[in-house]
Amino acid sequence: MSHIRSRFSKEATEAVVRYTSSLSFDRRLYPQDIAGSIAHARMLGRQGIISPAEAEALIQGLDSVNSELAAGRFEFRSELEDIHMAIESRLLELIGPVAGKLHTARSRNDQVSLDLRLYVKEAIQQTLSSVRNLQKALVAQAESHRKTAMPGYTHLQPAQPVLLAHHLLAYFEMLERDYARFADTLKRTDVLPLGSGALAGAAYDLDRAAVAAELGFAQVSRNSLDAVADRDFVLEYLAAASICMSHLSRLAEELVLWSSAEFGFVRLDDAYTTGSSIMPQKKNPDVAELGRGKAGRVFGHLLAMLTTLKGLPLAYNRDLQEDKEALFDAVDTLLLSLEVFSGMISTAQFQAAQMKRALVDNGILATDLADYLVKKGLPFREAHGVVGRLVSYAETQSKPLRKLSLAEYQLFSPLFDDDARRLSLAKSLAARSIPGGTAPKQVARQIWRAKKILGIPCSAQSI
Ligand code: ARG
Repeated sequence: MSHIRSRFSKEATEAVVRYTSSLSFDRRLYPQDIAGSIAHARMLGRQGIISPAEAEALIQGLDSVNSELAAGRFEFRSELEDIHMAIESRLLELIGPVAGKLHTARSRNDQVSLDLRLYVKEAIQQTLSSVRNLQKALVAQAESHRKTAMPGYTHLQPAQPVLLAHHLLAYFEMLERDYARFADTLKRTDVLPLGSGALAGAAYDLDRAAVAAELGFAQVSRNSLDAVADRDFVLEYLAAASICMSHLSRLAEELVLWSSAEFGFVRLDDAYTTGSSIMPQKKNPDVAELGRGKAGRVFGHLLAMLTTLKGLPLAYNRDLQEDKEALFDAVDTLLLSLEVFSGMISTAQFQAAQMKRALVDNGILATDLADYLVKKGLPFREAHGVVGRLVSYAETQSKPLRKLSLAEYQLFSPLFDDDARRLSLAKSLAARSIPGGTAPKQVARQIWRAKKILGIPCSAQSI
């Protein structure tokens, strides 16, 4: 097949060639591969390891290969094992035997690690900006629903009133932690492995710092075995992506529930729903459902990668080639999910009136009633018992709490006065005015802080 098989007496079978080839998917790494090769060639020339003219010939040749790839004019020959070999063999065709000098002081082991680190660094940058876009969509909806009250749930049972803005900002916070996780992953990905050679370090006087500077790496790796063998930066991306997808899947589930006829809390824009091929009345939240479903796929990639790495002896092993498809698919899935979720949230119409209806007559102020008795001196546990009995009594009378008479209230505690029957949503919300609570004042603070993080100007009076 090629120069790397010079010690073999037989060609690989066609099935083996297909089995070992990564060209069908690692071609995606061509921009990183070429950038890495150009930086390497330039440094080899500067260090006098190859002549300046040879370095120049390599760089120009690599530029031409790059143009062919970018224009879709590059012919991918399936017998070439991977993108690294494909580029080098085209370079040979274009510039002749000097092409053979490019791989001086380099191995595909440090080369592929470099390419992947460059790729993950870019993927993280894109992910960070996509996370920000979804956060912006959530904050914009929160701003327009600063006053919209809805039932908050535990166990999916109505629990206490909250502001819709508070609910939406909970997702802002989850995404804020996702953002921090990706930003942190970037620090450990930002390490140049080139110079590690196959495993033991290159036997040439390389200027690794210059290559790192040219390619924009903050550090150079400190151990060659580790640098060619580990893919923990891929694991970190996949772990952060999995957690982020789990957050999206929860948001997705709420949109599915809330857009049902039973809830009616949100109308999803037509652009984010689909029809049924048989039931003409249907408007299905397929986009949200797919977001929920695709989380499983990203989790699978994390587990696959953990399993691939587990128990591998140092240093490079071909198993590592299995890192790419998992990573690429996770990046594509996460970026597209974040993009469609941003659009779906921006265009969603939250139904304030329907939320308000859901707050009436469902005992949602029961905690406030217990708090009322506590303020009159009753220990909380007793107050809880009193209100529990009152709620159960109201149920037997088929009346909401507010329709019971004062005399009925007083059957359960003499501490009840007429004002107990005047508890309101507004008072309940306003009472939760500790930091992190759902009171309008606190939610306004959250919005203010979120806008500051997102770089959105906030006017003073909006607090
Ligand atoms: N295609 C390989 C990979 O993705 C490149 C490195 C191959 N190195 C080797 N010694 N066979 O990991």
